[in-house]
Amino acid sequence: MAVKDKVTTVFLVLMASAVVSAYPPIVRVKPQQIHISYWSSPNQMMIMWSQTDRSKLSIVRYGINGKLTHEKRGNSTAFVDGGIWQRTQYMSTVLLDDLVPGQTYTYIVGNEYEFSDEHMFRAMRAGQNWSPRLAIYGDMGNVNARSLPRLEADAFAGMYDAVLHVGDMGYDMFEMDGKLGDEFMNQIEPLASQLPYMTCPGNHEERYNFSHYRHRFTMPGDEGKMYYSFNMGPVHFVSLSTEFFFFWYYGPMQIYQQYEWLKQDLKEAASPENRSKRPWIVVFGHRPMYCSSTGTDDCTKHESILRKGIPFLHMFGLEDVLYDHGVDLAIWAHEHSYERLWPVYDRKVMNGSYDAPYTNPRAPVQIITGSAGCRENVSGFIKDPADWSAFHSMDYGYTRMHVLNKTHMYLEQVSDVKNGQVIDKFTIIKTYHGPYDKTGKQRAPDLPEHVKKAAGIVSPQRKRQK
Ligand SMILES: [Fe+2]
Repeated sequence: MAVKDKVTTVFLVLMASAVVSAYPPIVRVKPQQIHISYWSSPNQMMIMWSQTDRSKLSIVRYGINGKLTHEKRGNSTAFVDGGIWQRTQYMSTVLLDDLVPGQTYTYIVGNEYEFSDEHMFRAMRAGQNWSPRLAIYGDMGNVNARSLPRLEADAFAGMYDAVLHVGDMGYDMFEMDGKLGDEFMNQIEPLASQLPYMTCPGNHEERYNFSHYRHRFTMPGDEGKMYYSFNMGPVHFVSLSTEFFFFWYYGPMQIYQQYEWLKQDLKEAASPENRSKRPWIVVFGHRPMYCSSTGTDDCTKHESILRKGIPFLHMFGLEDVLYDHGVDLAIWAHEHSYERLWPVYDRKVMNGSYDAPYTNPRAPVQIITGSAGCRENVSGFIKDPADWSAFHSMDYGYTRMHVLNKTHMYLEQVSDVKNGQVIDKFTIIKTYHGPYDKTGKQRAPDLPEHVKKAAGIVSPQRKRQK
């Protein structure tokens, strides 16, 4: 090549480099997997999403009446999947902290390059004198998510204020280098971008020390611990990790740390001042301490680990903690079915009375709701359940909760097999919220007959015959 040609070639290469560097790199920063969660007060909401590539900015624009008049900026952190390809995505979190309680907001999320479509949410209402409505379920996967279409329809009809997903999501989010988790998060986006999607971890989140759960969900006060609590109207909700008991090799101290935190959290929630304002205490975690399922899960054991604590030592069991602090309701999943228990303590039925079992019950009420649909299908039941089992169903479905006021909490179970039919319903009525009496005496007076009748209370015998 002649010298002149060489000079020309070098010049062209330099020009090409200059042209390329004058334009920004092609980035994949379209926000996806958008979801929200309550934070520590009604004027706050945490907004989360994911991007394939990093951007400098994480921005939420929001406002009322469809106008995006406000803007908040937050953080983006790299999440590296634990698989062989170390696939990386960028998780953005932006806290909105100037919301008007109860107000409906339109919002978009994005960065310096690109924004999402519009979404809407309603800020939590202030105070305790309102009636929260929630959809509750566990064990919903990417494949066979039977309840998701109906949940979305319910949500768009304005039936809920929030969702509790009681562990096991995606099945499993780490698979395909995390792409399955991305698909699942996009699948629930229509629901989780409009309703606070409050979670706890399940066994299907275990891989890489729950890293997909920890990075994809940001819960109030959690900070990676995987347990937290939040207030919603007249209810104090507590979210636990039951998985510490079974994946102890990620750190056995987590069982102890959560146990101590739980006792302290419940002590505060159950103080006379707090309980008079916010009387209901509801605990949720993935694995139940009782169940009537076939198989060998912990809940099928006479002395389940969740209930009685770690084997042989019987330390850190949850049943006594819930009982001692007067927890009203415990919600579990893991079994791919629905089961309602009579109020129970130490395997003994502790109904409020024979005719009104859920009126001033003498122990926490417990339900299992893990049938929203996943690739592992449904769980079966043993032929002869124990006395504490009140009702069970293998139908795919989910639970609706309506906390009517400080004394009445209504729950119903929706069947997706029976086209949305309500297959079970009951009302917990408490004229007294507080510690239960281990002697079995009823602390609060029974309700008058007309109140029982209005609440549709029937005898346990008749309910079991259904
Ligand atoms: Fe599970």
